[in-house]
Amino acid sequence: MTLALSIETSCDETSVAVVNEKAEILSQITTNQIEHKKFGGVVPEVASRAHLQILQKNIPKCLKKANLDIDDIDFFCATCGPGLIGGLLVGSITAKSMAINLNKPFYPINHLEGHILSPLINNELQFPNITLLLTGGHTQAYLVKDIHKYELLGESVDDAIGESFDKVAKLINLPYPGGPEIEKLAIKGNYNKYILPHPLNKKENTNFSFSGIKTAVSLIVKKQKKITLNFKQDLAASFQKKITIILENKLEKILKLINKNNIKIKNIAIVGGVAANLEIRKTLSSNTKLNQYNIIYPPIELCGDNAAMIGLVGQYKFKNKIKSDYFFKANPRLSVDINKKL
Ligand code: KG4
Ligand code: ZN
Repeated sequence: MTLALSIETSCDETSVAVVNEKAEILSQITTNQIEHKKFGGVVPEVASRAHLQILQKNIPKCLKKANLDIDDIDFFCATCGPGLIGGLLVGSITAKSMAINLNKPFYPINHLEGHILSPLINNELQFPNITLLLTGGHTQAYLVKDIHKYELLGESVDDAIGESFDKVAKLINLPYPGGPEIEKLAIKGNYNKYILPHPLNKKENTNFSFSGIKTAVSLIVKKQKKITLNFKQDLAASFQKKITIILENKLEKILKLINKNNIKIKNIAIVGGVAANLEIRKTLSSNTKLNQYNIIYPPIELCGDNAAMIGLVGQYKFKNKIKSDYFFKANPRLSVDINKKL
């Protein structure tokens, strides 16, 4: 068995995992930093300090949970971008230090690649596939030709999808992160109540835009005299519905483009924090143009940031004998580009 110890600290989750070469999680501890709740968003400096403190406790705990000693670990890996630089430095330096100390390899991992490959944990992820990456920092559609081979087909030109959930939630006084709060409220709301814009709706456009929807929501909130529960429910439902329609619509366009180019895809994968949204899952999976393809998702608990997905990518690097890299610099703007090294 080859064992990876992986660390994820790119935003406000501090996560440590031990993963084997069969994509099995031997143990994982993810701590969601509650320190940010009172600020209504992630404060980078607070996040870095918290990562440092939490890692010191959670690394030994994670090893103990798997009944392992640090010497049993074959290699170490950590998210090195994209994300908040303070957190990336804390996580990557911690993992590198352990690797150097034990004379084991260290692999820098791209956070986005972690999300893209996260369905490997519970699904037959096949290639080529279309992957929609829906997080708090990114909204991107990729043609995933193989592991490490990603071609960007479209992305948000402004706010990320998760960010728009968070901003809309803030407008109606819901706590951070807003996505799960909006989902809960929307269950009892009338999604036909508010008409919201559908940006970049032109025929061939595979990019996304969400900031106009947020502005429309803010105007509705401003006009509303009393912010009642009923108002919040209807607004949450209308917003979530519009976002879902946009995703359906963009995926249909992307499929057309792919078919035009005679590429036969095997899966559609929906990944990232927003992929935990059950309404989005239900709608995409019941769309007859989309569900001719096998639509797959990571397990709900692995949609958000977690170290297991980072360990998975590490396992591929180890298997493919990619050179250990103690000198890779954490990069807040790292991309998964087919022409780049990571
Ligand atoms: O992937 P992720 O954990 O972190 C980033 O890489 O950014 O995504 C976090 C985002 C947040 O914006 C959060 O509000 C959103 O995912 N999110 C959701 C849901 N759960 C988390 N959005 C909609 N519905 C959800 N159930
Ligand atoms: Zn993420």
